[in-house]
Amino acid sequence: MSERVTPRRRGSYGIDAPLASALLAGAAVFYLVLAIVNGRVLFWLLASFIVAVAASHFYFTLRGKFVVWAELFDRMRLRGDERILDLGCGRGAVLLMAAQHLTTGRAVGVDLWRTADQSGNSAEATKRNAVAEGVADRIELHTGDLTALPFEDNSFDVVLSSLAIHNISGRAGREAAIGEAVRVLRPGGRLVIADVRATRLYQAQLAKLGMNDVTRTSLGWRFWPICLVTATKPEQSE
Ligand SMILES: C[S@@+](CC[C@H](N)C(=O)[O-])C[C@H]1O[C@@H](n2cnc3c(N)ncnc32)[C@H](O)[C@@H]1O
Repeated sequence: MSERVTPRRRGSYGIDAPLASALLAGAAVFYLVLAIVNGRVLFWLLASFIVAVAASHFYFTLRGKFVVWAELFDRMRLRGDERILDLGCGRGAVLLMAAQHLTTGRAVGVDLWRTADQSGNSAEATKRNAVAEGVADRIELHTGDLTALPFEDNSFDVVLSSLAIHNISGRAGREAAIGEAVRVLRPGGRLVIADVRATRLYQAQLAKLGMNDVTRTSLGWRFWPICLVTATKPEQSE
């Protein structure tokens, strides 16, 4: 079984949703100044709420998601020989942590490298991080769309995704991405998705596709407001 991997990182992973992050930070400063100048309780309440939302966002993007995924990998109890796919791997926050649990296995990342979704996003940035984390020999990167994955059916033991599928616009696109995740997963394989907003849709779609043990849970304050959706592909697919 693979050894525990700590959340401490050597690479550089950028900021998720950089525009929304900048707007949140700007709004927090604006409302704080307004509260100080105005002095009214209502403005202080508003400022406190926005500062708390901004602080929570920056905490999870810079630290919380690494702590939570380190725990999720502990719970997965990987053997080390798995073939793992990370959907929307970006700069490799989850992909490279997965690779650190592997010995003979491979961690495969697929992405369109959109800088609107993660600052400094590129395959080159992910390769540099793979070198920094000491796992460059255990990863593969592919450019591709989550709604039409460039992989064979039943070709991965584990399919993961963190903060990626909600970026696909429209219900049909998100359902297509869930369908693709199930298609490339081998019978008996595990699906683990951490995401915001659309997780009830993923849960319903996975149940509709006949996946077993479909669960949806909150990931707590360190990764708020993200939910975790898990499922297992039946051994005998009909
Ligand atoms: C917020 S980032 C998260 C990256 C990484 N999973 C993490 O947790 O740090 C979302 C990622 O999803 C990717 N993405 C968004 N839509 C995509 C699509 N349709 N196909 C492939 N990748 C996509 C973006 O390029 C970006 O790298």
